[in-house]
Amino acid sequence: MSTTLKVAILGTGVIGAAWATGFLTAGHTVTAFDPADGAEARLRSQVEGNLEVTGEGDITSAMERLHFAGSLAESVGDADFVQENGPERLDIKQSMLAETDSAVPASAIIASSTSGFAPSELATKATNHPERIVVGHPFNPAHLVPLVELVPTPATPAEVVKRGLEIYRSIGKKPILVRAELPGHVTNRLQAALWQEAYSLVDRGMVSVEDIDTAISYGPGLRWAILGPLVQQGLSGGQGGMRHVLEHLGPPQEVWMRDLGQVHLGEELTDKLVAGVDDELEGKDPVLIAKQRDEMLLELIALKRKYGELP
Ligand SMILES: NC(=O)c1ccc[n+]([C@@H]2O[C@H](COP(=O)([O-])OP(=O)(O)OC[C@H]3O[C@@H](n4cnc5c(N)ncnc54)[C@H](O)[C@@H]3O)[C@@H](O)[C@H]2O)c1
Repeated sequence: MSTTLKVAILGTGVIGAAWATGFLTAGHTVTAFDPADGAEARLRSQVEGNLEVTGEGDITSAMERLHFAGSLAESVGDADFVQENGPERLDIKQSMLAETDSAVPASAIIASSTSGFAPSELATKATNHPERIVVGHPFNPAHLVPLVELVPTPATPAEVVKRGLEIYRSIGKKPILVRAELPGHVTNRLQAALWQEAYSLVDRGMVSVEDIDTAISYGPGLRWAILGPLVQQGLSGGQGGMRHVLEHLGPPQEVWMRDLGQVHLGEELTDKLVAGVDDELEGKDPVLIAKQRDEMLLELIALKRKYGELP
């Protein structure tokens, strides 16, 4: 997509600033709105910091294309694409999206970054063209991680879905289409499945928090970051591929699946998990750890580009 888009960013906290960075880097114009005191200065400083980290594009040119509006209606008035990043509260999002829907051109797509609400729920107060309200769910740190989940409503036209996917690809994202509305979309459900068993194993005293992090980040996580869990599983079957793996290891795997724990995040388990993470972080600076994670992420993403996996 070579056209320059007018993009409105609503809510300029962590996620809004990350989206602004991505759209500006791709050459688009961004008009942001956030009612909090000092939001514009924080956004400018956050976006500048993000641009320095990614090292992509001309920072001066990007910052010149970043505008801040005095109201939501003003920011979306001539937008081609709106990305909503308000607080994760249904009532707030519904009213932001209803106001957006009544002020934005009929041809614009309105995407919400919501971590878990369904687009139909978010669109219930919109009366103009609620069918173009979709979810575009990013992953933190969202100025670096390419994944976006696009979730349409059953009423969303195929053309809107197609254009939404193209727009995300045009800013270097790797979108997936979630074909139905599910609480937590798809990726947070996958994470929840893993977290559930990790919490359960800690609760039962089977392993430390640190060893769970070691198990994933030095084991399957390395392979998952390259291929995902399913094609990777198929490769474990050698020439017989996925069919051989499932015939050979599927039956014991089903036994393990039936033994998985169900947890409740009550006070006792919460205390155990917090203590485990505190132990793991003892003597380390979380700010430095996050910085190092971002540096490694950039190198991983560069590797994926080198192998043609990302544009
Ligand atoms: N933080 C994450 O890891 C993450 C990841 C993916 C998706 N999300 C989703 O992104 C959205 C934003 O999350 P965040 O972490 O950036 O939150 P945040 O608290 O950092 O930012 C929310 C911003 O919304 C602003 N706001 C409040 N009312 C508003 C209004 N009426 N109009 C415009 N702006 C308004 C606030 O002033 C604040 O700056 C949420 O829906 C969240 O679920 C967050």
